[in-house]
Amino acid sequence: MIDDRYVEISNLVKAYPNPFGEAVKVVDGFNLTIKKGEVIGVIGHSGCGKSTVLTMVAGLNEISDGGIVVAGKEIDGPGPDRAVVFQAPCLLPWMTAYQNVMMGVKQVYPHASKQQRRVIVEYSLSVVGLADAMHKYPRELSGGMQQRVGIARAIALKPKVLLLDEPFGRLDSLTRMELQDVILGILDREKITTMIITHDPDEAIFMCDRICMMTNGPRAKVGQVMTVDFERPRSREEIMETDQFYAYRQRLLQFLDDCEAEKHGGGPIRFDTEEAPTESGVAPAAS
Ligand SMILES: Nc1ncnc2c1ncn2[C@@H]1O[C@H](COP(=O)(O)OP(=O)(O)O)[C@@H](O)[C@H]1O
Ligand SMILES: [Mg+2]
Repeated sequence: MIDDRYVEISNLVKAYPNPFGEAVKVVDGFNLTIKKGEVIGVIGHSGCGKSTVLTMVAGLNEISDGGIVVAGKEIDGPGPDRAVVFQAPCLLPWMTAYQNVMMGVKQVYPHASKQQRRVIVEYSLSVVGLADAMHKYPRELSGGMQQRVGIARAIALKPKVLLLDEPFGRLDSLTRMELQDVILGILDREKITTMIITHDPDEAIFMCDRICMMTNGPRAKVGQVMTVDFERPRSREEIMETDQFYAYRQRLLQFLDDCEAEKHGGGPIRFDTEEAPTESGVAPAAS
């Protein structure tokens, strides 16, 4: 069934040139299959290659080896079937929220009537809670509201796959929780196949059906995949009252800790800080 292998990432490799011009495999042998409608989280230490994988799925970053198939079709560059939301929404400052969303809609639905397009844009903006702020300019919107426009712009395209790269990374924790709820509501209702990168274990558990844990680079790949067995629609409060939530969180933290230990080669921990050694000649333990 194609729906069971809606997104198929096979033996994906990405090599970037290092400062000496040598190709270094940042990602090497990344394999992941995503079911239709599934929400997959990708978690891993900073710099391991999460964005590299996501931008390759988006078609924005050339694949060095291996392949990615979306809905039965090998991807070759970006397309309207995959919408991306990055940390910062990059809105055009001279356009209102409505016009920013409309721009993409016009490109993706060139044959739709004016009225049809208006309905799509208004619906998308109201889903993210911006019904009353549609005609405001980016400068009149808070960071969280701007990111809501970015999400509206993505879902207005009715993508087959939604790609979110740390979409709440720049927001304060309250706004972050609000936006998690907004996205979760959309995913619960519309069942969009989604890949979301985060380095927050709680966020991953709250939002995802499965969480893919990436090993540290270079040559990063999928280390473990954990299924999150909470029913949808989900409520943060209910999930956080279960023991299972803490078991999932423990497993994620353990994996991340193990990666960190491996990076240090299991030997004595090196300090990247320039802290002076203590009197005993031993650097102080990191807090
Ligand atoms: N365009 C590039 N050229 C060279 N190296 C890159 C480039 N983009 C990312 N890298 C390197 O690849 C590694 C993975 O980066 P990235 O995918 O952004 O990690 P993550 O999103 O997990 O933090 C990092 O070591 C980064 O420095
Ligand atoms: Mg990244």
